[in-house]
Amino acid sequence: MTLNLVFLGPPGVGKGTYAKELSKRYNIPHISTGDIFREEIRKGTELGKKVKSYVERGELVPDEIVIEVVRKRLSQDDCKRGFILDGFPRTINQAIALDSIVKVDLVFNFVAPKSVIIERLSGRRICQKCGAIYHIKFNPPKRPGICDKCGGPLYQREDDKPEVIEERLRVYEKQTAPIVDYYRKKGILVEVDASRNMEEVIKDCEQILKAKGLLQ
Ligand code: AP5
Repeated sequence: MTLNLVFLGPPGVGKGTYAKELSKRYNIPHISTGDIFREEIRKGTELGKKVKSYVERGELVPDEIVIEVVRKRLSQDDCKRGFILDGFPRTINQAIALDSIVKVDLVFNFVAPKSVIIERLSGRRICQKCGAIYHIKFNPPKRPGICDKCGGPLYQREDDKPEVIEERLRVYEKQTAPIVDYYRKKGILVEVDASRNMEEVIKDCEQILKAKGLLQ
């Protein structure tokens, strides 16, 4: 049995937070295209140079680049039992390409009001060393600016500035929201109310996975 999952939802709804926790609990990789791009940008690789301006402006990286990155990642051995794709697909073309690579078992669509999303993005902090996600109000580190898990420094993402947040939300509505219908028509979409606290959202995901027979 596989656990091939896709996490959909607007920027800041909490996809990465829930994916990290479920990935740890069920020992399947968390694949975030955003994390992959930020790491390539940090390292200054060819790929990083190609995608930098898109990511920093809050625009989508061209489909052919993203699809190739995901195709390569999914071919690795650790994806055989399952994976959580976070931030991919983001266009209908990407969704069609994914169908040609692997069978998706279930798609979670996380929803929350815009005001909640903006508050989450504005207070987000990320560990530069291990990628742990914090929030200055909802999930603060024990010592300000320092990661509880590895002691690394916390930073604010370039694209979490107010003007870029607005652009990302616009791009989401225009280019990514139509994917919800694509998966709904296939009968593999479930909606999760992500306006609740993290523990409740994660518990809900697990209950859904059990009810669908994807978890023992
Ligand atoms: P990406 O990194 O995927 O960003 P995103 O989709 O905008 O999602 P975020 O990472 O901002 O939010 P999230 O939902 O994971 O929220 P998080 O868990 O951090 O993409 C970045 C860029 O890369 C794109 O703009 C694009 O340029 C490019 N890109 C990536 N994939 C692409 C693709 N497929 N095609 C083309 N381009 C692509 O949570 C947010 C905050 O809220 C945190 O502080 C967290 O602590 C807090 N929080 C989370 N849940 C809760 C809760 N329930 N209650 C209270 N606080 C919470």
